[in-house]
Amino acid sequence: MWYKKSISKLIAEAEQSGEGTLKRTLSSSGLIALGVGAIIGAGLFSLTGIAAADHAGPAVMLSFIVAAVGCAFAGLCYAEFASMIPVAGSAYTYSYATMGEFMAWIIGWDLVLEYALAAATVAVSWSQYFNELMQIVGISLPPELLAGPWEGGMINLPAIIIVCLLSLLLMRGTQESSFVNNILVILKVSVVLLFIVLGWSFINPANHDPFIPVNEGEEMLKRGDIGFMEFFNGGYFGHYGISGILRASAVVFFAFIGFDAVSTAAQEAKNPKKGMPIGIIGSLVICTLLYVLFSYVMTGLAPYTAFSGDAKPVATAFERTGYHFLNTAMIVTIIAGYTSVILVMLLGQSRVFYTMSKDGLLPKIFSDLSKRQTPWKTNLIFMVFVSIFAGFVPVSDLGHMVSIGTLFAFTLVCIGVLVLRKTNPNLDRPFKTPLVPLVPILGILVCIAMMASLPLVSWERLGIWMAIGVAVYFLYGHKHSKLRKERESSGTGVE
Ligand code: ALA
Repeated sequence: MWYKKSISKLIAEAEQSGEGTLKRTLSSSGLIALGVGAIIGAGLFSLTGIAAADHAGPAVMLSFIVAAVGCAFAGLCYAEFASMIPVAGSAYTYSYATMGEFMAWIIGWDLVLEYALAAATVAVSWSQYFNELMQIVGISLPPELLAGPWEGGMINLPAIIIVCLLSLLLMRGTQESSFVNNILVILKVSVVLLFIVLGWSFINPANHDPFIPVNEGEEMLKRGDIGFMEFFNGGYFGHYGISGILRASAVVFFAFIGFDAVSTAAQEAKNPKKGMPIGIIGSLVICTLLYVLFSYVMTGLAPYTAFSGDAKPVATAFERTGYHFLNTAMIVTIIAGYTSVILVMLLGQSRVFYTMSKDGLLPKIFSDLSKRQTPWKTNLIFMVFVSIFAGFVPVSDLGHMVSIGTLFAFTLVCIGVLVLRKTNPNLDRPFKTPLVPLVPILGILVCIAMMASLPLVSWERLGIWMAIGVAVYFLYGHKHSKLRKERESSGTGVE
């Protein structure tokens, strides 16, 4: 279980082409679009309002910066790996080369939480905006078909339908999916820009004052009236003030999830050595700029308290401008934006399982390609899996699982860079993470700090999911591992 894949073998595998391999169709700009496609979504359009109202006030724009810095550390580590080992499985593959098969399995299994469950989470938010649109055009959908049983309904049907439609598109082909994605990305970036430009002149400076709302506990702490223990136990942490900015950064972290999805498509990039770092870092930078401006305008249009419990803050804020007649167009575009997130997440998921199956760790069905060279059976299986979660599980539970799973993956990628710099210092690294070991270590610390701010129940669920994964590994993966079989038949030990 500690066998490691050799980097040269991985690169050789990635360079194969023809029957039974993925097609190289994505340019650098296609990769940036893929990143932006996965990134801008429910985190921005739904969570910004709640993060401002409950935690940070207008300073939510600083929370976006904090979360972006944390992601940048991990992003730089991803970029080094993705340019060096441009194979489809992303973090899974990097771990196979650096920490061995078992750790690779753990991360591949963990990525289901990120990709498959993010697709489900965003599908649920998609359904909320879709319902809003239906109401505008005068159609009222039965409430029991709009939420799962834990949220007072029966099934979230629109969420299931969108997951199925996009899975079918992915089965048709990556190029077709990339084409649709590019259009959706243009639409959603336009809506963000439009919101910023049109909203700017309606900003009421009074809404930005105080910029950082006072946290009573922090004031008492400063005056020495209470100690740290009382501050934490008294429930002051996270309700405005500096601690509120930090808590909000863990909430809006969700808005950045997805830049790593670029690396899952490494095997479909025309020139991965150049395209991977550009796609990962480029999409992260573009989104950060947009997020900061967007949240500045949003909290300038309405007092932050107006967003309390509001899952559609864009509509609430935009109503305060002179352009409220554009509200419907905004909603349509936001729905398009969510659609691209779901699409890229489903794509990433199928590519991770495709690679794991190629390695023998999962049954062959996950790597069977159709005539159009897409892993259509994986798409089909995840269509069912994601639909079940989207249709029945509450959105906040899903969101927390996505965050914890993603942060765990980021942590392992940062560790991987440190390991590989030690074990293989002379490998050709087309892109080098700067300031190693500082950047990966900061990446690990920030990710763990964000994980610590998530509810205990998410940790328990992560533990259960991982325990199931370990069982599957020993019952199936370990026995069928191609690498283990090769090594043992040729008598070579752990590399
Ligand atoms: N970053 C993605 C979103 O916010 C997952 O929807």
